[in-house]
Amino acid sequence: MGSDPRISILVVEDEQAQRRLIVEILERAGNELRSAADVDEALAAIADEVPDLILCDWRMPGRDGGELLAEVRRRGLGCGFIVMTAYGSIAHAVEAVRLGADDYLGKPFEREALLLAVHRVLKTRRLENENRRLREAVGDEDRFGRLVGGTEVMKRLYRTIEKVAATDATVLITGESGTGKEIVARTLHRTSRRGDAAFVAVNCAAIPEGLIESELFGHEKGTFTGADRRREGKFEEADGGTLFLDEIASMPMSLQGILLRVLQERRITRLGGSGEIELDVRVVAASNRDLPQLVKDGQFREDLYYRLNVVAVELPPLRDRRDDVPLLARVFLDQASARHGREVGSIPPEVVRLLMDYGWPGNVRELANAVERLVLLAEDGCVSVDDLPAPIREVGGEAGAMVRLPVEGLSWDAMEESLLGQALERAAGNRAAAARLLGLSYKAFLYRLEKFGLADDATG
Ligand SMILES: Nc1ncnc2c1ncn2[C@@H]1O[C@H](COP(=O)(O)OP(=O)(O)OP(=O)(O)O)[C@@H](O)[C@H]1O
Ligand SMILES: [Mg+2]
Repeated sequence: MGSDPRISILVVEDEQAQRRLIVEILERAGNELRSAADVDEALAAIADEVPDLILCDWRMPGRDGGELLAEVRRRGLGCGFIVMTAYGSIAHAVEAVRLGADDYLGKPFEREALLLAVHRVLKTRRLENENRRLREAVGDEDRFGRLVGGTEVMKRLYRTIEKVAATDATVLITGESGTGKEIVARTLHRTSRRGDAAFVAVNCAAIPEGLIESELFGHEKGTFTGADRRREGKFEEADGGTLFLDEIASMPMSLQGILLRVLQERRITRLGGSGEIELDVRVVAASNRDLPQLVKDGQFREDLYYRLNVVAVELPPLRDRRDDVPLLARVFLDQASARHGREVGSIPPEVVRLLMDYGWPGNVRELANAVERLVLLAEDGCVSVDDLPAPIREVGGEAGAMVRLPVEGLSWDAMEESLLGQALERAAGNRAAAARLLGLSYKAFLYRLEKFGLADDATG
């Protein structure tokens, strides 16, 4: 919570003492607070200024919290909403979530539980807003699809794209095969001021070595056998726009020097030509190879590497951001359903779990293919575990394992500590309830809390 900008929170609670207490706790945590005693006051406060988060009692004289919630959601205000319900009235909580509440707190609650709920809701809200902003910036017609993902790395990536898009800086994107290098390059282009101009992609690995130079810089008529007319190169094609040099590591040494000069001078000469042509091109390069290593091995020019690497974007493998898998799978499911004209509802939880556990050597591309296959094989609109490729299906080994050992192994202590924390969080700090969630006796649970020095954190 610490370094966040000040968060504005509206507390709606009819009971004065309660209201003051909540306001004080949240204010001390560094937030900006307003309060209201009923729904009418709350609506007036919202009309004044929409808060980031509304914390609302359910049962109040006059209109209840559900009515405020419905109104806020109907207007699409995009603020977080936490409902406070009297302990035991689970029906209200269920109703609240159905109406669009982000979370609910059973009264009475503890300070920790309150702060945690607020923190969690603001985090997801911010994520959604960020995703929406990027989606709007990218537009719907994008045939390459939109960048999807809400993990920390992806959020950092969105921020980098936003920052870099505003400049003409050269960008080097690295990452394993299928991690999204090209879609990132296209997003960068589309959201930049060059977005309406050309995006020209050149796969340096796919062009025979002898032809790359003319492909990039063009040639004049009669320069070599077969050059029966003058031809513009990719650099010229990309004038005013973006040139994407994919698989840059495959650029022959002989050409690396020429490319370096072009990047420095922003001018090209066609093969066999004499005049120089001035160009306005932003260059984005990509590689799935270890360029610094290639530099060390003398296979890639160091000066070119630094010239390209003005802004470095490193895409992590999918196995390092597994939390994005469900969202990506959902998006790919919708895309494949639309593409093949098939109605496929959703991905069953046991399939999602397998997708999250799998190592994805082919990264996002492999996931997209696996999901497309599920859509094609689905019967009566239902996705089945049996339609997963064998390596994914067998990732967990023996059937019935509740928690699967990740392919890269894990740290037992870190896992235990994390599970203890999660149980406490889910039980809103109530230790007896947390112990039950883990199937432990209260004593055994306490013992483990102490082992990790967690015993003093929660008061329950
Ligand atoms: N974050 C993402 N959100 C949505 N789709 C993604 C994302 N990352 C990758 N994809 C999709 O996965 C596929 C592979 O992505 P892309 O072609 O950009 O990977 P790449 O890193 O260029 O792979 P390679 O090194 O094999 O060329 C594409 O269909 C792309 O649209
Ligand atoms: Mg690619």
